[in-house]
Amino acid sequence: MTLPEEFLDRLKQSNDIVSAMGAYSQLKKAGRDFVCLCPFHSEKTPSCHIYTDSQSFYCFGCGSGGDIITFTRLTENLDYIGAVRLLADRSGLAMPDGGGNEELFKRSKILEMNREAARFFRDALLSENGRAGLEYLLNRGLTANTVRKYGLGYAANRWDSLKSHMNYKGYDDAGLVEASLLTQGQRGLYDKFRNRVMFPIIDRMGNVVGFSGRRLSEREEDGPKYLNSSETPVFRKRENLFSLNFAKNSKKSYMLLCEGNIDVITLNQAGFDNAVATLGTAVTPEQARLLRNYCGEVVLAYDSDAAGQKATVKAINLFGREGINARVLRMNGAKDPDDYVRRFGGASFAALAEESGSAIGFELDRLKKSAGADTPEGRADYLKKAVNLLAGVDNRLDRMVYISELARDCEVTSAGVEDAVERAVKSKNRAKRNEERRELLRPAVKRDTVNPDADKFPGEEKAERGIIAFLLHSPDKLPVILRNLTPEDFPTAFNRRLFETLILRLNKRRSADASSLGSEFSAEETGRIESIRVENSVLPFTDERLSDYIKVLTDFKRLKNKKSADEMSNEEALEYAEKLKREKFAGI
Ligand code: CTP
Ligand code: MN
Repeated sequence: MTLPEEFLDRLKQSNDIVSAMGAYSQLKKAGRDFVCLCPFHSEKTPSCHIYTDSQSFYCFGCGSGGDIITFTRLTENLDYIGAVRLLADRSGLAMPDGGGNEELFKRSKILEMNREAARFFRDALLSENGRAGLEYLLNRGLTANTVRKYGLGYAANRWDSLKSHMNYKGYDDAGLVEASLLTQGQRGLYDKFRNRVMFPIIDRMGNVVGFSGRRLSEREEDGPKYLNSSETPVFRKRENLFSLNFAKNSKKSYMLLCEGNIDVITLNQAGFDNAVATLGTAVTPEQARLLRNYCGEVVLAYDSDAAGQKATVKAINLFGREGINARVLRMNGAKDPDDYVRRFGGASFAALAEESGSAIGFELDRLKKSAGADTPEGRADYLKKAVNLLAGVDNRLDRMVYISELARDCEVTSAGVEDAVERAVKSKNRAKRNEERRELLRPAVKRDTVNPDADKFPGEEKAERGIIAFLLHSPDKLPVILRNLTPEDFPTAFNRRLFETLILRLNKRRSADASSLGSEFSAEETGRIESIRVENSVLPFTDERLSDYIKVLTDFKRLKNKKSADEMSNEEALEYAEKLKREKFAGI
């Protein structure tokens, strides 16, 4: 479907790419433009650029790029038209006729069902039949206010409580299954959540995307302790955090990452509006990036049991890779934050959060325990591993602090440890440089997936990109280009298609906006188009440069044609010979 240009222009005007991306990543001003950590791949230094003039973005690290529509496609996992509809919705623009989209319709339908189900569970909790649920929550120390704030609810101990309500409201079973509210069993369809207290999971836009339900008893025969919605078109566990809708507005400089919903809610009640939890899985890179956008530092407040400590190590490594500062909160005498706050109170927990040490301190302790530092052999082993760990601390001053602590701890001289660490740092740097050098020397084995022909015609492909850049930046050159070239003169398929599309566009209207090509190209392809625009934008758009590019392609055409010189008629052959002669004289 093609949408009117005028509509797309309006859509882009009312959805500024800078503020949209600002919601995902902390932006840094760079002249008129902005840079940020790329939301689409892991990195520690920003390589994603946002161009205010062209209202587009391009990541030099991973090659993703495009306009606000592409950005929305990538972040919301939508197709082109779905992204357009979402943006239109957001800015209150009506879609032009025929702009219906199944996928988006489905999503909004599921969100609607979830909201209705959340209301139903909440009302049930407050009704006579929900007494068991409410008692459970109050017994766990939650106040009525907290229950209201989190929209907690109760799923009755029946097979069709929600089902009949939703059917009555006009929602059909197929939709309810897709929303993960009903389960298909051998004996038919029934409510997925039964006899559970219900925690709605709300994304940062305020949508109810799914549920987590806890059984009321501690009895295994009552089913799993927590039951969560399965993945649905609106619920992606890897990309959400429980209570982020509150935590994203917290004034605190750090986020508290916990394992359980109840931990988060209890902490909230004790004044920690910055607590979030993963949704029953280990923390993912997506969640790490999400956190990075809202805080400078994460304090890990996992369970104090072995599983929690193991998860802490994993999380430390992940945050390290994502360039996020992590500290570790250590609890004694309680199994998790909920338990801790109930035993010792919020003020005491605040003190723990305050004094929670760096991830490095946590790791040092762990190494020490595992080495058994009470024997000389154990201490030597610990020292070696610790030196290696400290060599990975980037900041020199930080390193010094740990070094003197470690030296004191192992009763050796500070200078000795420092010497060992600095040597390890040097050898690490050397290894890194060697790796980088190898990387440079390694032939480009990475296949170009957008334009597989590019490897075969490297020189021509570069010229093609140059010509395309002219059409994007300087569309008045179209006639000159068309006098010399047709799409058939482009040897690589992707660039040929792009060239053709641009010609069609330019023939229809005056400017070919790189960013408005999203309807005909995939999100990956718009990244390539954006890269062509960006890589050429600093070069001057002179006639000279243009004719250089044209020449590369016409030369190529001649070479290609030469092969079939046998098939030329006499007349053609003569003409061709004449032409070559002329060019010789012209010094070409
Ligand atoms: N979880 C889950 N499925 C389970 C058990 C746990 O999805 N069968 C998830 C839930 O999101 C839960 C989190 O893992 O909130 C932490 O689990 P756990 O530590 O066992 O629960 P607690 O938070 O201690 O829960 P409670 O205090 O209610 O016992
Ligand atoms: Mn608990």
